[in-house]
Amino acid sequence: MNNHTEDHRQHSVSSPEIARRYLAFFRARDHLQIAGTPLAGTESTLFVIAGMQPLLPWLRGEAPPPAPRLTTLQRCLRMDDADAVGVNGLKLSGFNMLGNWSIGDYGRREAIDFARELLSEIGVDRSAMWVTVFGGDSVSHLPPDDETIQQWRRAGHPEQRIVRLGSDDNLWTMNSPGPCGPCTEMFIDRGEAFGCGQSTCRPGCSCERFLEFWNLVFIEYEWQRDGSFTPLPLRSVDTGMGLERIAAVLQETPTLFETDLYAGAQQRLAELAPGGGDSPQQQRARRVIVDAVRSALYIGLAGVVPRSDGRGSVMRRLIRRAARQGRILGLDQPFLGELVAPLVERAEDLFSPDEQRLAPQVAGLLTHEERRFARVLTTGLRLLDRVQPESGGLVSGEQLFLLHAERGFPADLAAEVLAERGIAVDWPGYLAAMERHHAISRVSVRHATDVTE
Ligand code: SER
Repeated sequence: MNNHTEDHRQHSVSSPEIARRYLAFFRARDHLQIAGTPLAGTESTLFVIAGMQPLLPWLRGEAPPPAPRLTTLQRCLRMDDADAVGVNGLKLSGFNMLGNWSIGDYGRREAIDFARELLSEIGVDRSAMWVTVFGGDSVSHLPPDDETIQQWRRAGHPEQRIVRLGSDDNLWTMNSPGPCGPCTEMFIDRGEAFGCGQSTCRPGCSCERFLEFWNLVFIEYEWQRDGSFTPLPLRSVDTGMGLERIAAVLQETPTLFETDLYAGAQQRLAELAPGGGDSPQQQRARRVIVDAVRSALYIGLAGVVPRSDGRGSVMRRLIRRAARQGRILGLDQPFLGELVAPLVERAEDLFSPDEQRLAPQVAGLLTHEERRFARVLTTGLRLLDRVQPESGGLVSGEQLFLLHAERGFPADLAAEVLAERGIAVDWPGYLAAMERHHAISRVSVRHATDVTE
């Protein structure tokens, strides 16, 4: 990194400032700012996965919204993305989503005009911007979103940077039945240096050249359990801008992990593991650690504690995963709690005063959980070193099951360690071993009962 870049980053806009400007922009355009919903405040999913989720009754027309135009900053957690964290520098499990909504109020034209105006105001280089739109497909049987294409053209967006994609990319759903609709996503072309080099590389490519940072969804349908799409009584707009991603765009960082949101935690980690190295595996370990600690912090701030089931099990999984990645950096003493304060300090305005007070307690929870797991981790990793695939090239499910049942080493973590060595697990075999074990337990319980009777 040259001095010029460092200097630029120091003076570029901070993430809390981006959030402040986004919300102020929409407030000034008649949007009512509402508070984010607590991360554990939904019933349909363990955690809030999108800013629109708490708004569902309003989007469905089941209850009147407090205002037809709304804006908010919502903390979200998507464990579906957790496996990609680290390998991909643009993915996170926990993140902050800025959003503006029209509940049956404005439509595509205004949503796109607002977006373009805000992006100019905060200094996004529109000449590097691409958009994707729903091109229609035979999977959903929904027509192409020609109106959105027209609106981008009208607004002056160049035709050659409008990409039409199918329902996998541009029909936004919650991955389950419910309100949904075609969407248009905005991307920044970060240049060939970040790309895969393929001539077909465009938004939608899995490489890291095109960074998607804002999604405008036109919520118009209810996706029914039978797979059909029925029109909703209201036509609404639901937008989501990833704060971490727009920060990477404006701060011109190579990945999300160099933005101001993670800089303090990364620095503390470098102090704790000065000889941590810079191999791809070690770089990935650092990213996984700061991502997992921040997500565990968010979960802890929602009043959840590590447990073996429900929301607490997600927190436990994140902590254990991060503890194991610490071993890659040579950290074998509890260290995760140390990263909490820097994560909060660098982004104070994104935490309420109560959360700032609670953060040290959550740090204590992380340390406690990490300490409890330390011995299991050491033993399990040693045993895993000796595990070899069987003739089919897979590690037997029985072996993994025993590691869990007898040593307490989680199977998903074991699979992750093995995957790094290029070894896959026989999951059907694992499930069969579990079933056999349960059947044996049932027989022994019956037998024990017979004897006592
Ligand atoms: N619901 C959409 C998303 O999560 C836009 O907010 O991307």
